[in-house]
Amino acid sequence: MSINWFPGHMAKARRQIEESLKKVDVVIEILDARIPYASKNPMLDHVIGDKPRVVVLNKKDMANNKETDRWINRLKAEGVYPIALNGKEPNVLKKIENTVVEATKEIFERMERKGINPRAIRAMIVGIPNVGKSTIINNIAKRKVAKTGNTPGVTKAQQWIKAGTKMELLDTPGVLWPKFEDESIGQKLSLTGAIKDNVVNLDDIAIFALKFMQEHHLDALKQFYNINIDENTEIVEIFDAIGQSRGFKMSGNEIDYERVTERVIYDTRDAKIGRFTFDLAESAE
Ligand code: G4P
Repeated sequence: MSINWFPGHMAKARRQIEESLKKVDVVIEILDARIPYASKNPMLDHVIGDKPRVVVLNKKDMANNKETDRWINRLKAEGVYPIALNGKEPNVLKKIENTVVEATKEIFERMERKGINPRAIRAMIVGIPNVGKSTIINNIAKRKVAKTGNTPGVTKAQQWIKAGTKMELLDTPGVLWPKFEDESIGQKLSLTGAIKDNVVNLDDIAIFALKFMQEHHLDALKQFYNINIDENTEIVEIFDAIGQSRGFKMSGNEIDYERVTERVIYDTRDAKIGRFTFDLAESAE
């Protein structure tokens, strides 16, 4: 589910996150491993300040493994604590707990030196819509935590969930707005389902997806749709080839471009054609 963000929503979301931040030792930022740059919220860096940050590259099962490794290295170099996850898998709690312990080691050592009794590490999850925040919270809580929806400003008493033996987690994630500034970012957000289909031009999304695959994953594209194209084939001809191959025709034997567009978007979004990462670690900024 996605929402339309207005300045009022954004201000409210920011205030709520700032309030919650006061209660926690560490922030767990969830990104979509397919778009680690586009799924970052633009203002989070400012509000987190010096607090330790664990960055989860979620949906790693849908992203390109090599590229995920490159992102992990890049994020480590930036001074955060990254991990790649499939939020639906059973080992999520252990992995997050280990990384959270590592990220907060210094804080707790300092507390110990001052003679402060050890307590659980307090953490909260933040991220833009659809990156898998609820999936991860439910997985950690081992139950379905009431979903407040991706609606900023929903007031609900926050509760602590016991997460493993060393961690406590706020049961309500901080929902952040996605980036808006750049068309290609919008296309990536739409292609991965982070923003609604009706706020973007679907033809542009399908064209973006096809160009990306033609440039980076030509064989996967050819094989999946059983089409004969090369790196120089015009995009419209790729639409034609897919329409032919899949039998998407209208009366008069014309290609049904609308169906091709939808198919390409859903097949890419569901990682059916292959596991692709649309933000490359080397060049995304
Ligand atoms: P949010 O709270 O950040 O908005 O995201 P949410 O957990 O609702 O997850 C959004 C969608 O992403 C859900 O699919 C969820 O199942 C899926 N998802 C979350 N983590 C992963 C992951 O690591 N890998 C894969 N492949 N999918 C993941 P949905 O289609 O909206 O719902 P459903 O089909 O699970 O019911």
